[in-house]
Amino acid sequence: MKALVTGAAGFIGSALCKALIARGWQVTGFDAMTYAAHRGSLEPELSAGQMQLIEANICDGRAVSEALAHVEPDCLFHLAAESHVDRSIDGPETFLDTNIDGTFTLLQAARTLARRKPAFRFVHVSTDEVFGELGADGMFSETSAYAPRSPYAASKAASDHLVRAWQHSFELPVLITNCCNNFGPRQFPEKLIPLMVLKALRGEAMPVYGAGEQVRDWLHVEDHALALITVAERGTVGETYLVGANQELRNIDLVRQIAAMMDERRPEGAPHARLITHVEDRPGHDFRYAIDASKLRTELGWTPQIEFETGLAATVDWYLENRDWWQPILDGTYRGERLGLAT
Ligand SMILES: NC(=O)c1ccc[n+]([C@@H]2O[C@H](COP(=O)([O-])OP(=O)(O)OC[C@H]3O[C@@H](n4cnc5c(N)ncnc54)[C@H](O)[C@@H]3O)[C@@H](O)[C@H]2O)c1
Repeated sequence: MKALVTGAAGFIGSALCKALIARGWQVTGFDAMTYAAHRGSLEPELSAGQMQLIEANICDGRAVSEALAHVEPDCLFHLAAESHVDRSIDGPETFLDTNIDGTFTLLQAARTLARRKPAFRFVHVSTDEVFGELGADGMFSETSAYAPRSPYAASKAASDHLVRAWQHSFELPVLITNCCNNFGPRQFPEKLIPLMVLKALRGEAMPVYGAGEQVRDWLHVEDHALALITVAERGTVGETYLVGANQELRNIDLVRQIAAMMDERRPEGAPHARLITHVEDRPGHDFRYAIDASKLRTELGWTPQIEFETGLAATVDWYLENRDWWQPILDGTYRGERLGLAT
């Protein structure tokens, strides 16, 4: 089986490439190498000749068509996106360009391949944020109404609508996934977990938005990658699958857990919890997301394998052991500053 993976040099894309290779797929990545990409995340696979990487933008119709014609993938996994809510508040334009126009460009190009190759599948990777926020109870399911509340979520929601429309109007064989928050190694340090680990390591304030009461469901990135492969291999065309772990946690409790793990690993800095600082909340910060993933579990037999605390401890260790991955980022592209205040 041949895969073309957009966003391959990002956090989830690189985990997916590794999982596909382990399962015997032939893999080609497609990535514009934006600030969020990290070539080092794919270095072992690229230098061993286990995969190829095309450096191009999904908004470039010619590059996309050439890649599809060259690779002739059985499955296009579409992960390329601008992915950080805070940056979408500071500058929404690139989110509209990549997440909406880029998805449109891919869909159009994919129609040509789908006509030649009936077994072709287009797996569109989306987020639970398209459904808006929940109160203290309830869960999102495949029938939840769309109610995005950030520019990021709105651009992903728009892309989901385009993908569904291309299936209905052009019979493009698509499948859609909406996943909860991912965690694991190789995540860009602007995101909550790596940011907290690196702030704690450097003895800097660990900034928690508002009171930290917001609740997220956390899935290990390797479990997400296996869910995507399951959907590609066994899912039904035209269906949507929600992906979640049933591991809900308040942000403040997550940050306290990281501080405690840092105390064990770097006792000289203990107690790291003294670094926790409450800062101005994100504008329009969604209160709670939770996923009912029973359709994916019962119909396709997927279950997450990595328990939250074990995965979190391994993630903290990965950042402590892989300074050469993140130090160049903190020295250049992103220095740990606050983003997304909309002022
Ligand atoms: N991280 C999460 O918790 C999460 C949860 C659910 C869904 N998702 C979705 O999964 C996908 C991947 O998320 P991630 O966390 O790995 O993001 P990421 O920001 O780490 O990686 C995104 C990748 O896409 C590439 N990219 C961006 N714009 C591009 C363009 N115009 N053309 C080609 N490549 C481009 C970047 O260079 C980067 O390598 C996204 O679609 C996101 O919406 C993420």
